[in-house]
Amino acid sequence: MSTDKTNQSWGGRFSEPVDAFVARFTASVEFDKRLYRHDIMGSIAHATMLEKAGVLSSDERDQIIANLKDIQAEIEAGTFDWRVDLEDVHMNIEARLTDRIGVTGKKLHTGRSRNDQVATDIRLWLRDEIDTILGEITRLQQGLLGLAEAEADTIMPGFTHLQTAQPVTFGHHLLAWFEMLARDYERLVDCRKRTNRMPLGSAALAGTTYPIQREITCELLGFEAISGNSLDGVSDRDFAIEFCAAASVAMMHLSRFSEELVLWTSAQFQFIDLPDRFCTGSSIMPQKKNPDVPELVRGKTGRVFGALSGLLVLMKGQPLAYNKDNQEDKEPLFDAADTLRD
Ligand code: ARG
Repeated sequence: MSTDKTNQSWGGRFSEPVDAFVARFTASVEFDKRLYRHDIMGSIAHATMLEKAGVLSSDERDQIIANLKDIQAEIEAGTFDWRVDLEDVHMNIEARLTDRIGVTGKKLHTGRSRNDQVATDIRLWLRDEIDTILGEITRLQQGLLGLAEAEADTIMPGFTHLQTAQPVTFGHHLLAWFEMLARDYERLVDCRKRTNRMPLGSAALAGTTYPIQREITCELLGFEAISGNSLDGVSDRDFAIEFCAAASVAMMHLSRFSEELVLWTSAQFQFIDLPDRFCTGSSIMPQKKNPDVPELVRGKTGRVFGALSGLLVLMKGQPLAYNKDNQEDKEPLFDAADTLRD
């Protein structure tokens, strides 16, 4: 039996390494490595707290933090060797730390589990994503506002049933989109509040007997509050579902907006002309200028609705507390955030 292929974190009592298929099937590193920055941020806060709690010496803390920063630099330089047999981002980073500084590296995981670690990482990551998306919504709103001012006197038909109804101005119409985005913004701000709570300290599910001080890590990581129940803290993903719900409503708005752009650029309407750099053409029908971008916004909306539905189904059957099912939360969440930001 070769023990070197046995997982170094939990393989101690196993008599054989995991099957190659199982290793591939259970690994998440291909997609969760994008959490590396937030994983390291969480670990630095945890190490800082462990020293204050008297669990680590100040030398150990300093060594852990300096090496975590070096590991981050390796990842960013593209020289880090991501290993599928180490399952996920958390064990890849911890294994590298232990390679570099030996047994001190293992002490970082004191009083912590991957269960509260990953729940913390996703919240930190999503908090940043929400902030970026809020900035993008504001940028779009500013664009609409500027155009609405310029088009304040431009008369256009207003529609009901897509039948010409009453005259409105183009500025008036644009400001309807502005209002929709204002509510999308509010929904994301609200979702951010519940995302910004810290599960770290829940450990695997039942907390830890080490004298950890959650208020310290909470403050270091900029969380608004600590989670009140450890079983809930490690297992629920309602914040991710809320994000996908808010993202779905925002995409629904962007999709309606896009539908109007598609209609308005058609030969039948001819209300607007989109710049060539935002359109594509056809080799056999040279009269065409295709509004591919708004069409794709409309099309990609389905991905985000799919992420929402996927996460709801993912959660609905899970008993407390953490189950491996939860590893499936990441790809839909990442995709919903990427799609909405684009
Ligand atoms: N990669 C795992 C996830 O994303 C981390 C937590 C694993 N915990 C465990 N007990 N196997 O959910």
